[in-house]
Amino acid sequence: MCVRKGHEEVAHTMARSQNGKAARARVITFANQKGGVAKSTTAEAFAASLTARGYAVLVVDMDAQPGNLSMHVGADKSLPGTLELLALRRPLRREVVRCVQPTRSFGDVVSANEELDEADRRLNSRLGRELVLSRALATILDDYDFVVVDTPPALQVRTLNAIAAANDVIVPCTADSSAIAGMQAVIDCVDEVGEVVRGAEPRVAGIVVTRYDARNNLEPELFDKIAKIAAEHDTHLLGHGVRNTVNARKAQSNGVALGEFAPQSTAAVDYEEAVSAYLASIGRKGRKSSLR
Ligand SMILES: Nc1ncnc2c1ncn2[C@@H]1O[C@H](COP(=O)(O)OP(=O)(O)O)[C@@H](O)[C@H]1O
Ligand SMILES: [Mg+2]
Repeated sequence: MCVRKGHEEVAHTMARSQNGKAARARVITFANQKGGVAKSTTAEAFAASLTARGYAVLVVDMDAQPGNLSMHVGADKSLPGTLELLALRRPLRREVVRCVQPTRSFGDVVSANEELDEADRRLNSRLGRELVLSRALATILDDYDFVVVDTPPALQVRTLNAIAAANDVIVPCTADSSAIAGMQAVIDCVDEVGEVVRGAEPRVAGIVVTRYDARNNLEPELFDKIAKIAAEHDTHLLGHGVRNTVNARKAQSNGVALGEFAPQSTAAVDYEEAVSAYLASIGRKGRKSSLR
């Protein structure tokens, strides 16, 4: 599909799913109440890997922080993005499509800019405020296989929208106690949204232990604790943890997805394992990543 961007025709990932038939996208939201736990890195790694495996992917960036995913993939912040998407009252497909732009690394993006914090203020005064994202995405779900949503490090109304819109919530979590508390808060929030928000059926699809350093005395113990909490909440770890590597930070400063920047790096290999585990858990197999 092509949509107009100014005077230029821009090829979109929309409806380019390789299996040729209209898919109904699964929405994956990445959340942890704590910042710096590799939410954005994990969301990007999943988006890039799913794209490389032949899936049609849309990323929705809900994080206004400088250095967010949108900046990383070179999105044009002057174009309509998440702020405009969340302002739609009775979303029509063509209005939603106007908020989507292509990226160089993976599918398409609804981009965020620093003004996105304004969206929370506006959402707070609306009826059905937790379902605004869900209603907007419903108009384009047939165009993608997966919608990947990155969130800010707080359980504010924007994050509640991301959770309410999700089929699957994936919690990136470093092996430290404040990140574990942030993970627990997300798990509780997913339960609550499922119970309270009519039409929302999110589930915690898994935990990805991030920036993992097995040589640090404390981390293996906390890794086990994370696995135990996951099991207590009827979920599980995706993969065996993403190792800490300087390549992840280098990839970020170079504006490239880790799997593209250093495909053989430990963390890139670990993310591929996590993505494979996720796909297996939802019964989608058989497509190998072309990243490596
Ligand atoms: N596996 C890793 N090893 C080392 N550094 C990492 C790894 N994953 C992410 N980082 C770095 O950690 C920092 C925080 O990551 P980010 O994805 O922005 O976290 P969040 O979105 O949760 O705030 C970034 O500088 C990022 O490059
Ligand atoms: Mg982030």
